[in-house]
Amino acid sequence: MLDIILRHCTLPDGRLDQDIGIQAGRIVAVQPALPAQAGREIDAAGQLVSPPFVDAHFHMDSTLSYGLPRVNASGTLLEGIALWGELKPLLTQEALVQRALAYCDWAVAKGLLAIRSHVDVCDPRLLAVEALLHVRERVRPYLDLQLVAFPQDGLLRSPHGLAQVQRALDMGVDVVGGIPHFERTMAEGAESVRLLCELAAERGLPVDMHCDESDDPLSRHIETLAFHTQRLGLQGRVAGSHLTSMHSMDNYYVSKLLPLMREAGVAAIANPLINITLQGRHDHYPRRRGMTRVPELLAAGVTVAFGHDCVMDPWYSLGSADMLEVAHMGLHVAQMTGQDGMRHCFDAVTEAPARVLGLPGYGLAPGCRADLVLLQARDPFEALRLRATRLMVMRGGEVLATTPAAVASLSLPGRPASTSWQPAAVAGGSADVRLTTAGPVATR
Ligand code: FE2
Repeated sequence: MLDIILRHCTLPDGRLDQDIGIQAGRIVAVQPALPAQAGREIDAAGQLVSPPFVDAHFHMDSTLSYGLPRVNASGTLLEGIALWGELKPLLTQEALVQRALAYCDWAVAKGLLAIRSHVDVCDPRLLAVEALLHVRERVRPYLDLQLVAFPQDGLLRSPHGLAQVQRALDMGVDVVGGIPHFERTMAEGAESVRLLCELAAERGLPVDMHCDESDDPLSRHIETLAFHTQRLGLQGRVAGSHLTSMHSMDNYYVSKLLPLMREAGVAAIANPLINITLQGRHDHYPRRRGMTRVPELLAAGVTVAFGHDCVMDPWYSLGSADMLEVAHMGLHVAQMTGQDGMRHCFDAVTEAPARVLGLPGYGLAPGCRADLVLLQARDPFEALRLRATRLMVMRGGEVLATTPAAVASLSLPGRPASTSWQPAAVAGGSADVRLTTAGPVATR
């Protein structure tokens, strides 16, 4: 007798009509027609069950602050940084905690159960670090929040930058961050990469740097990051975030850089919504897209994850914690509209960031924690196309969130009243998922 069985699931790898057995918060079986009974059975009705969404790159300290103290008029990265500088002295711990917790609620509702957030450590009070460490503990039962010590004003450019990073790590921040392209010179950028990688090696921590978030094709700190990763034996625990200068780099140089990144085991994190918004701002026409070379990185064997980066903050006025929206933008910007490309983009908001964050027990195999999302879609492509409703979000076998299926009621002239749900209309199949949050669910 199991605790829960989800019947008739479609899995992201294409397996159809699978039953998922759950016992004591873990997945214990995945197979067709699981010959077992459970205290509760949920009929997925052939719809997609995915492991939770994972956001590889976010800024929890600035989220939901849109309009404080004013709106970013130019919409540029540099005005955003200046605006954040105006907001920082006005921040209170209570407001930071409240906004971060509100965002985590949004995230859970969207099936986003793990987030790596950079946190600015240049404020001498380390107010945001304290606030987000508190939030990390508050949300731990339902969301994995990983924090990166981010010297946003520059490690060497801001007073006591390195000491501030060290203080944040002493307080329990998980990952070493950086921003080499924002240091005063290329040489100081390279020096910041060396110092931060050495710090990570000393402390046995991962590294995730904002790296080359620029349209300057000569911004090549990713090469330095790959070099120090190899030199210090940090393979597999280093990520370069943004890497937008790669979009504009010389093609011959990139043909050398890609294998270096692969050799060093450095992961790439692209932020499609933000990259397409903030890059190319100094261009007339043609205007560059700016996102890093996602298909080429994947072809070279580099792990590529996507991040949301910003939601309603000084840099971006939109967003809703929806990683399908991020992947949807990513596949458009990278022109990854083929089946393999779309599958990679779905992976870039699930499996790939889970690897980057080193999440234990992630996935849908027996033995994994029973964290999963039931979507109103029949496969990952449909989930991307529709930014599908998250019908149910589960963590450790507990239902955290449910959302009613999106169904439109139609009253069309000359036709009987009807309901429409896009996939059902196309396939003529049933979109009916029988789901409740309390007690057993009827099987079909
Ligand atoms: Fe960022």
